[in-house]
Amino acid sequence: MTIAAVLTAAGSGSRLGRDIPKALVPVAGVPMVRWAASALASVTGRIVVTSPADALADIVAALHGVPAEIDVVVGGETRQDSVRAGIQSLAELGDDATVLVHDAARPFMPVAVMGRLLQAIEHHDAAIPVLPVVDTIVTGVGADVSYLHRPSLGAVQTPQAFRLGPLLDSHRRAHADGVEATDDGSLALHYGYRLGTVEGDPLGAKITYAADLEAAERRLSA
Ligand code: CTP
Ligand code: MG
Repeated sequence: MTIAAVLTAAGSGSRLGRDIPKALVPVAGVPMVRWAASALASVTGRIVVTSPADALADIVAALHGVPAEIDVVVGGETRQDSVRAGIQSLAELGDDATVLVHDAARPFMPVAVMGRLLQAIEHHDAAIPVLPVVDTIVTGVGADVSYLHRPSLGAVQTPQAFRLGPLLDSHRRAHADGVEATDDGSLALHYGYRLGTVEGDPLGAKITYAADLEAAERRLSA
């Protein structure tokens, strides 16, 4: 099975509030994008990384020595644009190749989850890691608020695994149709592809706010 990965790192990290892109922010001295790429390198030898246009050289430098063939491409306006840019440069691998789409903002996803995804993709067009939701979730505000049934909810993580053909097709059609989503699995499902789920891992939590970064630092030093 041909396996490649797209690692999104083109965001600014506005909620983290640093003066460098979030992917370059170090955790225990190592930039997030390097943690995430190193984890991916244990399951694939080919990684396309999306970068902010003005940070290409720094992203390349942060990835120096990671044991994989790594291409750094300029990302887009939104995460979805960045993923589309990344997967275009893998098109020559053919529709049956497997692509893991991962976020640099989840630097510590255990490799075991990637193994589960690569198993699930044998029988699906797409596979996503899901965790039970711990908070009670509402939709709407004020008088329009209503509660969702927590036991039937799940939190979706990355990496997500795809057959390259369905992934390219979903992204191209979403772009043409103006369909926007916060992950890639939902696009595949929207266009009728078979989506499987595997168990996610709390260690793969997304680093969004300063407190998430502090918690990750504490865990690594423990
Ligand atoms: N991302 C990207 N291209 C964008 C926006 C986001 O490649 N135009 C990437 C980020 O680098 C990150 C992942 O998508 O690895 C998830 O996005 P998020 O956690 O929202 O990161 P940021 O967009 O950087 O943060 P914020 O929303 O706080 O600005
Ligand atoms: Mg964002």
